[in-house]
Amino acid sequence: MKPIAPSLLRWFDQHGRHDLPWQHPRTPYRVWLSEIMLQQTQVVTVIAYFARFIREIPDLPVLANASQDQVLALWSGLGYYSRARNLHRAAQTCMQQHAGELPQTLDELIALPGIGRSTAGAILAQAHGQRVAILDGNVKRVLSRYAGVHGWPGATAVEKSLWELAEKLTPPQRVADYTQAIMDLGATVCTRGKPRCGECPLSADCIALRDDLTAQLPQRKAT
Ligand code: ADE
Repeated sequence: MKPIAPSLLRWFDQHGRHDLPWQHPRTPYRVWLSEIMLQQTQVVTVIAYFARFIREIPDLPVLANASQDQVLALWSGLGYYSRARNLHRAAQTCMQQHAGELPQTLDELIALPGIGRSTAGAILAQAHGQRVAILDGNVKRVLSRYAGVHGWPGATAVEKSLWELAEKLTPPQRVADYTQAIMDLGATVCTRGKPRCGECPLSADCIALRDDLTAQLPQRKAT
């Protein structure tokens, strides 16, 4: 598999999103909060909620000491309220078990409520520059198409090969930018319907484009 990072990063420098509120400053707490909000909500919607949340609850200790009512009120309108309850509980666990900070290993992050492997990877890559892979829905779509991975990405075997691919393609340098770049590519170019392959930095080596399979990949769950 040819590396994708060089072309992707060149594209990101020109076309990626560089002014998202959680990128400046890019602290672990802010990255964590943004990733939880972004799990089921689009960037455009998250921006205002993120800004308000950060204004009222600027760091992890304040979150741990906030009332659940305050946290839920700040989440009101975003939906999927278990995200807010998990966030609140995770902050309290961090106070008790991690000296008031988010842990910096994959296993410890995944042990916190609401943080799965991809969110943990995004936090480590974005906040700490650790070379850790991510694999959210957008990235699954990009990689399925680029490498021509067949099968429903929710199936265990398919998900496993996508994780292996994600790990192999994650570069040692500029991993925070790479992670943001591949998510941005999935959100804005390699979209579910009508991908803009003419604007894609990976089009020269994309198997789905070569074989005219962009409408078929990633495959849907067999019913
Ligand atoms: N979805 C999940 N995390 C994201 C991020 N950091 N940027 C854009 N979309 C995302």
